[in-house]
Amino acid sequence: MQISFEEEQQVFHLYNDKISYVIQVEKQRYLKHCYYGKRIKRWHSGIKDYYYDRGFCANPIAEDRTFSLDTQLREFPESGQGDFRSPAYELEDRNGDKNARFFYNGYRILSGKIAPDGLPHVYTDADTEAMTLEITLQDKVRNQRILLYYTIYEDAVVTRFAKWINDGTEPIEICRFLSMNMDLPTQEYDVLTLSGAHTEEKNVYRRPLCADSVTIESSRGTSSPQATPFIGLLSPGTTEEQGEVLGVNLIYSGNFYGCVQCGQYGTIRVQLGINPYQFGWQLSPGSSFCTPEAVLVYSVNGLAGMSNTFHKLYRTRVCRGWYRDRERPVLLNSWEGMYFEINEEKMLTLAEEAAELGIELLVMDDGWFKGRNTDTTSLGDWTEDKKKFPDGLQSLAKKVKQKGIDFGIWFEPEMISRESDLYREHPDWVIRSPFYEPILSRHQLVLDLSNPAVCEYLIDAVSKVLVSGNISYVKWDMNRHLTDLGSAYLDRKNQNELSHRYVLGLYRVMETLTERFPQVLFESCSSGGGRFDAGMLYYMPQTWTSDNTDAVCRLKIQHGTSLLFPTVTMGAHVSACPNHQVGRTTPLATRFAVAAAGNLGYELDLKKLSKEEKEEVREQIAEYKRRRRTVQFGTYYRLADSFQENQSAWNIVSEDGMEVIFTHVQILARSAYRVPVIRLKGLDPDAVYIDCETGQEYGGDELMYAGIRIPRIRQDFSSTTMVLRKS
Ligand code: DGJ
Repeated sequence: MQISFEEEQQVFHLYNDKISYVIQVEKQRYLKHCYYGKRIKRWHSGIKDYYYDRGFCANPIAEDRTFSLDTQLREFPESGQGDFRSPAYELEDRNGDKNARFFYNGYRILSGKIAPDGLPHVYTDADTEAMTLEITLQDKVRNQRILLYYTIYEDAVVTRFAKWINDGTEPIEICRFLSMNMDLPTQEYDVLTLSGAHTEEKNVYRRPLCADSVTIESSRGTSSPQATPFIGLLSPGTTEEQGEVLGVNLIYSGNFYGCVQCGQYGTIRVQLGINPYQFGWQLSPGSSFCTPEAVLVYSVNGLAGMSNTFHKLYRTRVCRGWYRDRERPVLLNSWEGMYFEINEEKMLTLAEEAAELGIELLVMDDGWFKGRNTDTTSLGDWTEDKKKFPDGLQSLAKKVKQKGIDFGIWFEPEMISRESDLYREHPDWVIRSPFYEPILSRHQLVLDLSNPAVCEYLIDAVSKVLVSGNISYVKWDMNRHLTDLGSAYLDRKNQNELSHRYVLGLYRVMETLTERFPQVLFESCSSGGGRFDAGMLYYMPQTWTSDNTDAVCRLKIQHGTSLLFPTVTMGAHVSACPNHQVGRTTPLATRFAVAAAGNLGYELDLKKLSKEEKEEVREQIAEYKRRRRTVQFGTYYRLADSFQENQSAWNIVSEDGMEVIFTHVQILARSAYRVPVIRLKGLDPDAVYIDCETGQEYGGDELMYAGIRIPRIRQDFSSTTMVLRKS
C-alpha cells in the first residue's frame, strides 16, 4: 500500500493493489472527495467538475460565482458556509456562536496505524501492514484543529476517524463530530441496511435511492437490535457475486447516526458517526476528542466480496487475544433449560450429562447470585446465592471441572436492581434525572459508567469471581437501554457527554478485565444481538447472536449478521421444541444444521431428551468437532440469494481449501416440488471433491457452475448437509 501527494495538483492518493482513495485540496482550503473505488494508477485532475453558477448558491470566494460548497463533493463538510447538506461537525462557543472556518493546513504521511484514543479499532501487528494519512484542518480565529486520519491496508479497506484539538484559551462545545463523510458523484445506488428488533436482529433491507435520504440511527445508548451502524451502497443489479459495493461500518457500541443524503444535483453524501442527538462534548483548552473509527470496504465482487473482506478484517484485526485464533468450545447454557431455577445439584447433574455427550463448557446463566429468583432483583450483587449454592461458587466451579468440563458464568455488570445491596449503598450510581423517578425496564436501572468509581467497582466485582481460575468463560449481558439521561457524577455542563462517556467507561472496564483474565473466553450479549457490533468484538471475540433460537428465524438473523461478521463471532444454540420464542417445532437435525454454522451450543434441559435424541446430540457434537476448524475459521459464502424463496443455503471452505461444508434448509415442503439448484462458491474448479458420507465424486467446476440439486424431503424445516473433501 502507498500514499502519495502530488504537490502541483494538491492530490492525495491512497492506494494498494485493489483500491484507490483520492482527495484533493481545492482553492488551498477545502477538501474535495475525488474517488473511492477500484485501483487507478493516477488521478490526473482532468475532470473539471461542479463549477457552475447555480441559483441559491453561496460563494465563499466572492469573485467566483461558479464555486459553491453546496455543489462540491466534500470530504469533511462544515456547517454555516453555504453547504446546506448534512455537516460532519459543528461547535458552539460560550456565547452560543456556532460559526467556524476550518481550512486545510497541511498533512503527514505515516507508516503504520494511528488509533483513536480509548476506542476500539482495526489494529495492525506490524507497521508494514498499513499506512496513514493525517490531514489537518485549522480554524485560526478560534485556534482549533481537526485532524483527519485515513489508514489504508493491504486489503480493500480504508479506516477513518477524526480528532479535534482545542489549541485556544476558551472551552468550546463539540455539538456534532462524525467519523466519516464522503460525497459521491452519482445517486445510482441501492442502499442496504441491517435493521430489526429484539429477537429479529439484522434483517437485510435494500432499496434504490430516490431523491430522498436514508438515515439510520440509534439513540438507545447501544448500537441496538433495531439498527446496525452499517450502510451498504450497491451499484444497480449487484448480486452476491457481482457488482460494486461500498460498505461502511462503525466500530462503536453506542448511539450512532448514519445517512445517505441526496444532493440537489445528483450527488450523494454518506455519513456515519456518533449520533449528534443528545450529544455534546466540552472541549477545554489543550484537550482533544477522538471519534470512533469507521471502516470503508470496497468490493468489485458483490456482497460476498464485501463480506469476505469484513470477515477477515474483523476476525484477525479487530478480535484480539488468546481466543482469536483458537477453536471455540461447544457449550451448554442453562438459560432456556432452567431459567432462574438453578442450584448446585442441578448444575452438577447437568455437567455430568453434558460432559458425557461431548460438551466442553457448561455455562451457568442468570439466577446464580444473591436472591436472584426473578428478574426483579439483585443485579449488582455479584456474590453467589447461598441457598442455591451452599458450598459457594468456587467450589461448584471446581466440582464441574472435576467432571471433565469447563465452567462459565453469566453477568450483567452494567445494570443494577433497585432491590439490591448495591443500590441501597449507592443510589447515586444510577443513570437518572435528579428531578424524576427513573423509568424501569426489565425492573432494572443502568449504572453510570461515566463515573470512574462505578467502573472500578465493576472491575473489582467481576475480578473477585474470576480470580479463582476455575471459570473459563463469561457471558456479558446487557438487557435494557438508557433513559432519563442524567449523571450525579458529571457537572451540569457535561451532562450531554453521558452516553458517550458510558461507552468509554464500558470499554475501559472490558479492556482491564480482558487483559487481567486473558484466558477467559468472553461472549457479549445484549438480549441476544442487541449490541452485536465491531466495538464489542474488539474486547469479546464472540457474541450471542439472538435470543431467538428458532432454527427458521435464525436463518434470517444469521444471514443478515453474516453480511459483516464472521461465523466465529456468532453464538448459535440448539434449543428445545416447541421453540420458546415462536412455538415452532423443527427437527433436531435442522436445529443443529443451523446452529452448526456458528459457535455451536445447546440450550435445553438435557433430561428432557429421549435416549434417541441424546444419541443424536452426541453424534452432532462429534461431527461439529470434526469440522469445527472449517466452520469457525473458513470462508463463508451465502448461496443463491435464496432466503426469500423458502430456503436458505451456505457453504464454508476451510482455510486450506481442502474441506467444504454445504448446508441447505428447506422451510416449507411443497407438493409441486421444484428441485432447487444451488451453486457452491469458493471452490477450486480444477479439483475433484468427494462427499465424505457417500463417496460420490464431484468436480469443483460442476459444484460451482452446474450446482447441487437438492433431493425432495417431504417435511417442513428439513435440512441437507454435505461435507466434501478435496481429493
Ligand atoms: C438475555 C440473554 O440474551 C439471555 O440469553 C439470558 O442470558 C437472559 N438475558 C438472562 O437474563
